Parts: sequence; C-alpha cells; structure tokens
Amino acid sequence: MASVTFDPAAGLFHLTNGRVSYIISLADGKYPLHLYWGKALRTVRDDLVCRRLGRRTHDAFTMHETPLDRLPQECPVFGCGDMREGMLQVRHSDGSEALDLTYLSHSVSDEKPALPGLPSARGEGSRTLTLTLRDEPTGVEVDLLYTLWDDCDAIARSAVIRNNGKTPVTLEKALSFCLDLEGSGYELVTLQGAWARERQWTRRRLVMGDQGTGTVRGASSQQTSPFLALTGDGCTEDSGECMGFALCWSGSFFANVHVDQFSSARVMMGVQPFDFSWELKGGECFRCPEAYLVYSFEGLGGMSRAFHRLVHSHITSGAFARASRPILINNWEATYFDFNEEKLLSIASCAKEAGVDLFVLDDGWFGRRDSDNCSLGDWTDDLRKLPEGLKGLSRKIHAMGMKFGLWVEPEMISPDSDLYRSHPDWCIHSGDRIRVENRHQLVLDMTREDVKAYVKQAIGDAIGRAEADYIKWDMNRNINMIGTCTLPPERMKEFSFRYILGVYEVMRDITSRFPRVLFESCAGGGGRFDLGMMCLMPQAWTSDDTDAWMRCGIQYATSLVFPPSCMGAHVSAVPNHQTGRVSPLSARAAVAMGGTFGYELDPTKLSEEEKADIRRYNERVRAWQDVLLYGDFLRLKSPFDSGECAWMSVSPDREKAVVTHVFRDGAPNAMPGLLKLRGLDPDADYRDEDTGLVLGGDEMMLRGIPVPPARGDYSACQFFLRRV
Ligand code: DGJ
Repeated sequence: MASVTFDPAAGLFHLTNGRVSYIISLADGKYPLHLYWGKALRTVRDDLVCRRLGRRTHDAFTMHETPLDRLPQECPVFGCGDMREGMLQVRHSDGSEALDLTYLSHSVSDEKPALPGLPSARGEGSRTLTLTLRDEPTGVEVDLLYTLWDDCDAIARSAVIRNNGKTPVTLEKALSFCLDLEGSGYELVTLQGAWARERQWTRRRLVMGDQGTGTVRGASSQQTSPFLALTGDGCTEDSGECMGFALCWSGSFFANVHVDQFSSARVMMGVQPFDFSWELKGGECFRCPEAYLVYSFEGLGGMSRAFHRLVHSHITSGAFARASRPILINNWEATYFDFNEEKLLSIASCAKEAGVDLFVLDDGWFGRRDSDNCSLGDWTDDLRKLPEGLKGLSRKIHAMGMKFGLWVEPEMISPDSDLYRSHPDWCIHSGDRIRVENRHQLVLDMTREDVKAYVKQAIGDAIGRAEADYIKWDMNRNINMIGTCTLPPERMKEFSFRYILGVYEVMRDITSRFPRVLFESCAGGGGRFDLGMMCLMPQAWTSDDTDAWMRCGIQYATSLVFPPSCMGAHVSAVPNHQTGRVSPLSARAAVAMGGTFGYELDPTKLSEEEKADIRRYNERVRAWQDVLLYGDFLRLKSPFDSGECAWMSVSPDREKAVVTHVFRDGAPNAMPGLLKLRGLDPDADYRDEDTGLVLGGDEMMLRGIPVPPARGDYSACQFFLRRV
C-alpha cells in the first residue's frame, strides 16, 4: 500500500509503497530538501544540512549565507541563495525575480488532485502528498504534488503556482519537477531522431555542466522525446540502478541534467522555458504538466516495465485500453492519393479474406486532395473518388463484415482550401509577414474559440458520417512564426502552451463523443509520441518508416517508456518505400507483432502464398495478442549494439511467451546460436508451438534457446512458447 508519513520532530516526509521510498526533509522547518529516492528504506537519520554546511546544528540556518547552493532541493529557484538554474522563475511587477519559497503547509490525500485542462494519470490506489510553499513578500505559493501508487513504482510529480498576492506576476519558467541527486556517476539515455528514424537510443556519460534534451517545435517531436534516464554503474537490462523520467505533455519541452561543482546532478523537466511566459494575476494559478519518475533496481528493463504498468493501469483509458485491438489494413502506402472506391473495396475485400478486421481510409478522401498541396480543413467527401461519399463506402465495408476507419488531420489548414479562402485569419500567423508553409500547410490557431468549435463540428460530422470504428488523428507540421489575436502582445509567449491546451480540449471533446471508436494518434509518423497523447488515445503510429530493420530500432527504443499496446506497427510492401530494402514477409510480420498489428500494402498484389502467410499471421496475432500487447516486455538484444535485435513478451502468469529475433545481415557458413531468454518460470517446461521443441525455462534463460543461422539479410525467427 502506498503511504505518506510525516515525522514532525525530524521534519521528514516519507512516501513509500514498500518497494520504493522517496524522502524529503524540511531544513529548519522551511526548505524542502531531497534526501532519498530508491529501494524502500525505513528512514533517513543523517542530518544532511549540518553535514553539508560543516555545522553541528542548523538552528541558525538562514538562506542569507547562501547555503542553498550546496543543498539538494525539491523546488529550487535561482536568486535566493542557490546559484544553479532553478525549476521556477517569476518576474515581479517591479522587474525583480527573487522568491524565497518556504514551507507553509502540507496535506495527504487518496484522491489524486485533478490538473484541469491537462492530461494526467488516474489515481486509483494512490496517495498524494501536497507540499505548499510560500514567498511571504509577494504571496506567490507553490504546491508540489507527489503521487505514489500501490501497484506501480512510478511517482507522479507536478507543481501548481498560485499568485495569492494582489499584484500580477509573470512566470518565466515553470518546470514540473526538480530532483537533486547526490553524485553524478551516471550515464544519460535520451531518444533522439528525425522523421522516419524516430527515437534512436542515445547514451553518454554525465559530465560537468548541462546535458539533456528538449524541443521548441511546438510538439514533443520526432527529433527527441520527453524522456530521459540515468543509469548507474554496471546497469544492464535486468540489473542495476536506473532512474527514468517522462513527461505527460505533447508540446515543446525541456529536460536537463546539470552536474554542479560538487558533482551533484540536478534533473529537471517540464514545459520548454524558451518562448514561454505566463501572466498570473492575483488569485490565478498555473498548472505544470505531470511528470513520472521511475526508480528501478532491476536495470533498464525494470524501469520500462514500471512505465508500462503505469501506462496500462493509469494512463490509457476507454474501451480499448486493455482490450484486444483490431488488425487493420491502411491504404496509404498502397495507393497514396490515387484511389477510387473500387480500388479501396478491392483492397478491403482481399484483406478481409486474409482475416483483417478493419479497413482504414487514409489521406485524400476530402476536398480535392489529389496531392498534399490542398484541401486540409475542407472535411467534405470528395465525390469524384467516393461517389456515395464516406457513408456509402463505410456501408460497403461494414457489409463485408469489416470495421471502417478514417484518417483526419484536424489541426491543419491548406492555403488552397475553401476554409482558408473564407477564414484566412484562422491560421497561426505573424501579422503581415509571409506565412511559412511546411508540406504546403499552415496550422490552425487552436487558441481561438471559433476555430475549436469548427474543428469539433467538422471532424465530429465526418466521424458520424463515416460511422467510423477507428480514427487516425494525424499532425504533419511543427509550429513557428507565432502570432494570435487571442493574446495581447505582451502575453504572446503563452501561445505554445495554450495551443496544446486547445488541442487537448478538442481531442477530449471528440473522443468522449465517440467512446466506441478506437483513436490512434499520429504526427507525420511518431512526432507526438508522448504520455500526454496516450492519455487521450491508447495507441500511436510509431513511425512512417515501415522498414522491418529500422522498426527494430525504433520500437526497441520506444519500449523504454511505451508498451507494445501503444505502438502502431504495420507490415508493408517491399522494396520498402522509405529505405528501399527488401526483407522477407516473415521478418516484416515478426517485427510488426511487436506493436498493434496491421498492414500498409496492397494485398491484391500479393501472391497466393503470401496471402496464405498473412492469414496465418493474423490467426497468430489474434491467438497471442494478450501476451504480445499486455505481457511483460523484455528487451534481449539491442539493434543499437550489433546487427541483431531480440525481444520477448511473457504473460504475467508466465504460462505463455513470444520471442522475436531478427538478424540484420545474412551470414555465410553460419552456425545456430543460443539466445538467452528472461522472465520465464525456471521450474516449468515450455513447448514452442511451431517446432514442438520442449525446453526448460531454466535452460532457455541460463543456456539459451537455439536460434537458426541467418538465411539472407533481415531474417527473423519467432518462438510461441506455452507452459507444458
Ligand atoms: C503522415 C502519416 O504518418 C502517414 O501514415 C500518412 O497518414 C500521411 N501522413 C498522410 O498524409
């Protein structure tokens, strides 16, 4: 059970669920200091303040002597003794920025406080500590929120900044948390990338100064992810100390580790301070997005499984959160914009015969969209391509016994669209300057009430008309040249944050009006693959790169935070449209089984043999989906380290497991090798469904399971193991 205790004599707050502890002390009854986060402890008795300051008592502790610079704090601000960058910065009406935030009160609750407007984790089975600090001269107050769950080793942290004074203040930096660690002997893991090569695993040693990641693109982005991890010496996939940090936010963010003069590491994460400010009038408050801190003493794998548990138990919601997902076929790579109803129906019926559940109509069904240079915003059926509109197509697909899904890109507007001709002011723009397009499109100003109302209505109508069972919500460009009529010039830096709040509002409206529809988010592939999105839509398109080997790396690294149930993964045609590679169908299917399974090809062009294979893959996915999507996920071999990739999923009762192994290169004259598995019951025997091979769990974990040698490039093998 998660608990929060306060020992007034020692000034200690202790959050624990019996597996991890997080301990805060109040220095001199005033300043919350970070004492410990790690494996559950009984308590901490050492007096950190005295030890750090070389004193016998801290009775005379005052910040005027600048001791805060040496102390690990929970809510540091620059300019009141601490010379490091802090997590908050407030500009007072006289231009000064000092804040002396000292303890005012605290409360403990088993109701997790809501963060209105922001996505956040649900609080079943949790305890929350709210620590309130106050700057006496101005009345600025900060609530530090800490939630710990019974069933998962993540701590949610966020902050609420309230102006309880009378004079307005301006927030210039409002990060979600700060964690000051004693020592800096860690490696930093971040996820860096680009379009079609999102989330590449990057690892480096911490050095003195600043290091981390972040983005100013207005989206969590393809270039990086709102995540970082610190691994202790000798940390592996299944042993050693590891700390993971992830933000529940889909816009620009900041994630940094600062190693200071005493080799302490300060980890901070939150909304990107670049181009951010927020006016707080008397009585107003600002809520920072939630961040999740995961401590693992079972290495990176333990960290990931804690994140996966958090996602499954407290982040994803709705009818599909824990349910099986339909096997889909999407027409994008099969046709791009060049389709008509007849073509779509031929794809759908062929896929249906092979056992696919859901046909998804991608981009190009609306306005006069024959290429990506027009019609975004005109969500009216293109009757040239669909003579009976979405309704007619959907009815025909449904009559085949398939579900029907639809692509939309609600946040965008094409300059060549009826919407733009009627409302040229609805896009984000900077006065009379040129409107810089990207993929020939501009971004709708989601801070405007009229724009949000239009999007809610137009997209809602399309979903209703299509009687859709599934929606792919795309977003294909980032934001710059910011300007809006909704804010006065001096408050323009509130825009990026308010834009994402607008997106969340519209998404919440539409997803709640269609509770039976499965929503998948997408952003030119994986450009908004974050926990904020996952609160609203339980799966996301992982990358536009559908090449099997590239997907090995992308999905492997994405699994640091996200379970397979979140990762859209499809089998596509060869040569692959992004890399030109030719990989066997078996490898493409094996890798796609590492996510929510589907196809992105024209099945009418497949041979009878390939169609038969597809039928088998679909039966497999259906039979093993509970393990594939919701089992414990274990990374076995990193494609970032060698030309091999392997992962496995094990059912929580250890009755079933699926193992996937891929070789990048074919090797001449190679011998079978052994792959060491994990997570099985050592005392049980398991039979592989295909070969009938029976081996002990202990043997497969300690000695390994035999992997056939690579037969050609990108060859894969899979084992579907059941306890005998
Ligand atoms: C980007 C997506 O990631 C693709 O899958 C496809 O939907 C295109 N947009 C359509 O424009």
